[in-house]
Amino acid sequence: MSTTSRAPSLTSAKELRARIEARTANIGIVGMGYVGLPLALLFSEQKFAVTGLDIDSEKVKALNAGKSYIYRIPETEINAARARDFSASNDYGSVAKLDVVIICVPTPLNEHREPDLVPIEATAKAIAPHLRAGQLIVLESTTYPGTTEEVLVPLLESGNTSGLCAARDGSDSGDVFFVAFSPEREDPGNETVARRDIPKVVGGLNPAASELANALYGSIFNRTVPVSSPAAAEMTKLLENIYRCVNIALVNELKLLSLRMGIDIWEVIQAASTKPFGFHPFYPGPGLGGHCIPVDPFYLSWKAKEWDFQARFIELAGEINTAMPYHVVDSVVAALNRGRKALHGSKVLVLGVAYKKDIDDLRESPALTIIEELQRRGAAVFYNDPYFPRVGRGRKYNLQMDRTPLENLGQYDCVLIVTDHSDYDYKKIVSESQLVVDSRNATRGIKSEKIVHC
Ligand SMILES: NC(=O)c1ccc[n+]([C@@H]2O[C@H](COP(=O)([O-])OP(=O)(O)OC[C@H]3O[C@@H](n4cnc5c(N)ncnc54)[C@H](O)[C@@H]3O)[C@@H](O)[C@H]2O)c1
Repeated sequence: MSTTSRAPSLTSAKELRARIEARTANIGIVGMGYVGLPLALLFSEQKFAVTGLDIDSEKVKALNAGKSYIYRIPETEINAARARDFSASNDYGSVAKLDVVIICVPTPLNEHREPDLVPIEATAKAIAPHLRAGQLIVLESTTYPGTTEEVLVPLLESGNTSGLCAARDGSDSGDVFFVAFSPEREDPGNETVARRDIPKVVGGLNPAASELANALYGSIFNRTVPVSSPAAAEMTKLLENIYRCVNIALVNELKLLSLRMGIDIWEVIQAASTKPFGFHPFYPGPGLGGHCIPVDPFYLSWKAKEWDFQARFIELAGEINTAMPYHVVDSVVAALNRGRKALHGSKVLVLGVAYKKDIDDLRESPALTIIEELQRRGAAVFYNDPYFPRVGRGRKYNLQMDRTPLENLGQYDCVLIVTDHSDYDYKKIVSESQLVVDSRNATRGIKSEKIVHC
């Protein structure tokens, strides 16, 4: 059945709730990326009719042809969803036929490292003319506290032609739509927790919106965690990511000290992890990557300035983590120096360019900075990554490199492990290479003079 055959005109929270419970509510998800597409599939599995909206017509075309562009989502899942009632579109007119619209668009930083809310604003402006009473609009994109109320709601209210307002206070019917924020908490590549087992935090603009968002997510997640407002939900997500960012910076700094002192930080972390309380392990690496940890904390430090507040932990963590790719390059220089070689003119093979192991996501990957910096200092750089046959152009890089096969490793002056994908046979890599610089402790347990940990 297609969404066009259902044209509900709900006006009250009660009616929408009944449709959610009966699985007859039409769900629309804006942004068919790493967050939006899996979410669409989850709703589809639970028998909801789902429309995926995206401005990227290639993605729309791919989904409607049953194709996947995300490595860990098999085409069989997309085809199964299509057979149920999933389709993709770039026509915002379909919003009028939806009961729920969930926004999962990007929230990057601009070139001044300030929040770039253009995708959220563009989405709000595009859906506003098609809003109707009784719909639920949920923002999932990670952002600073206040975005839902200060940015999203005013655009939805000013852009709709029927004079609808967001439901506030005790309002639960009439000329209103409902608004909530619910952060995405997915950890790509983490197979230990099923997505539906990750509790879903929800904060509605008013009690009716909270109740609807709870009912909605309660139908696909095993547990929902209601909080008192959209701002509390927005801040929850930022706390989680800042906690990671700051602790990774701490352990990165302690790694630099440990290297200088001749102590193996990995051994130390393993030993500290045996404490049954009060310690959670974080691991050092070549720098932060992904859409979240390198970006989200700066949403809060930017917002904090509005309150005459300097978020110092965030800035300090950012400083330490941003310096890590340069530390890795310096370590390659030092390791080559041991063999009386200069980086300039040396052949360096970078292993792993994804921002973390076993995923196909390049965004903000430290490997990109490392490759650029190695090239800038005169190295001939090659890369291998099972997930990327080619690295072309991104927001901040333009490498235009093709993957080099993982063979004849002896030809490289240095093999640099940036991302510790599970597919690699590290023993073989070490035995065939002249020199291995390891930024991830991927070669743990292998004894060889050729290995330099950094
Ligand atoms: N990827 C993750 O692991 C993760 C985890 C938690 C939270 N988040 C947050 O979720 C949000 C989305 O992240 P993502 O990783 O899915 O991003 P993504 O880049 O993979 O996908 C975003 C999609 O939105 C589309 N889009 C952009 N502007 C649009 C518009 N105006 N209308 C319709 N579609 C539009 C893009 O074409 C793209 O397909 C971000 O705020 C991110 O911080 C991501």
